[in-house]
Amino acid sequence: MQIIMKMLGRQTNTFQFPWKWLYSTGQRGEMDGVQQQMNRQNAISFDRQHLWHPYTIPGDPHIAEVVGAQGVYLHLADGTKLIDATSSWWCVAYGHQHPHIVEAIQRQASQLTHVMFGSFTHTPAVRLAEKLLRLVPPELDRVFFADSGSVSVECALKLAIQYQYATGHPEKNRFVTIRGGYHGDTTGAMAVCDPEDGMHQIFSPLLRSHFFAPRPTCTFDQVWSEEQIEPMRKIVETHHEEIAGCILEPVFQGAGGMYFYSPEYLSALRPICEKHGILLIFDEIATGFGRTGKPFAQAYAGVVPDIMCMGKALTGGAISLAAMLCNEKVAMGIRDHVPSAFMHGPTFMANPLACAAGSAALDLFEEYGTIENIHRINRKLTEGLDSAKKLTGVQNVRTLGAIGVIEMCSTVNRVKTSEIAKRHGVHLRPFGRYIYTMPPLVTDDMALDRITHAMCEAAARVTHSDQMTDTIC
Ligand SMILES: Cc1ncc(COP(=O)(O)O)c(C=O)c1O
Repeated sequence: MQIIMKMLGRQTNTFQFPWKWLYSTGQRGEMDGVQQQMNRQNAISFDRQHLWHPYTIPGDPHIAEVVGAQGVYLHLADGTKLIDATSSWWCVAYGHQHPHIVEAIQRQASQLTHVMFGSFTHTPAVRLAEKLLRLVPPELDRVFFADSGSVSVECALKLAIQYQYATGHPEKNRFVTIRGGYHGDTTGAMAVCDPEDGMHQIFSPLLRSHFFAPRPTCTFDQVWSEEQIEPMRKIVETHHEEIAGCILEPVFQGAGGMYFYSPEYLSALRPICEKHGILLIFDEIATGFGRTGKPFAQAYAGVVPDIMCMGKALTGGAISLAAMLCNEKVAMGIRDHVPSAFMHGPTFMANPLACAAGSAALDLFEEYGTIENIHRINRKLTEGLDSAKKLTGVQNVRTLGAIGVIEMCSTVNRVKTSEIAKRHGVHLRPFGRYIYTMPPLVTDDMALDRITHAMCEAAARVTHSDQMTDTIC
């Protein structure tokens, strides 16, 4: 130490060793237990005073500190280990800290952490795009990377409008969608979320008004009837001169109600869009990478959209990254009109660390996104949630792919439900009337049993203890 001090040319008694730096690089070694406990309390109290969490008021008292995670487990500061049954908002598809992803990020960090994607390209972006293009229908062969799911939706909406503008239809600048959708929290995305049941009603003065058809009532397994598409057809026939694109989550609406609808809807929609020069945009941000039982949910109908958004599991949940893919018609359609460039370019576009994580995650998708594995998870979820069907206060129990949902008759108390699940070693984050799981695809049978048990317990206990004020059954 003395030698280092001398080299630094400082007096030993005045030199402040940079502990702060050593903490952050993890080299100080073990802190004693008391110190750790104090830091924890400080972290929580600092958090309450200064931090803001998603969809909360500042100072949310129901925030727990996570100190690490491994596989399907979250490790909390108080020593609790919880199964992450929501894959941390549906993105940690291969479990936490998967060594293949962690190593890819570390390797990349030693070479190039970031460079602007304007003027430059790099192997991580090229390799990720190559792998992605092997997964999606061949018509989608242009890739535009974005920072998050919402931003990729913004890109899709902008590109659709720019395409219409460039091909002589500047008046086609609104969108049509179905009720119950969720596409993100940025302005353009909010405007195509469900206008009433979504979370964005109060921002309506900020939002462009679009067209909303009722969501198909024909569920995933029900027999399709053509009249389901009629309301959409009517809207399009009446307003097609104003409509640039049709955006929806194919087959599975997530945050808008954990709802599975008939893939036939997509098949019926495709020719309507085609006939009226409307671009079809699929938001596969939640449905992508095997979650519904197909690599992408569009495969249930064999319908290829003009533009597709993906995110969440793209990097196995390690770092934020999303992508918008489109076909040649759209990509080249904007070429012959000023501005001939697509006018979007975020600073961190195609960040090399995120792309390296994405590339590693796609290797894991080959291993865990298989039909057999998703069927295994589906079988376990279906068996495990069966007993919830008989519970008072349960409206419906359903599964699709690696998604399991208990729909209650009334809004559930999120905090209480999470607490009950926590006692069973499971992290759940219900919303609205939905107690659901979207577990990591690496979750083994025993952990799946624990998740479904915790969900059934929560559904049983929360119903008895909560007042049902907005019951629908
Ligand atoms: C279907 C869908 N689209 C878009 C988004 C927004 O993605 P992000 O939170 O990465 O902005 C989400 C997030 O839940 C989503 O489920």
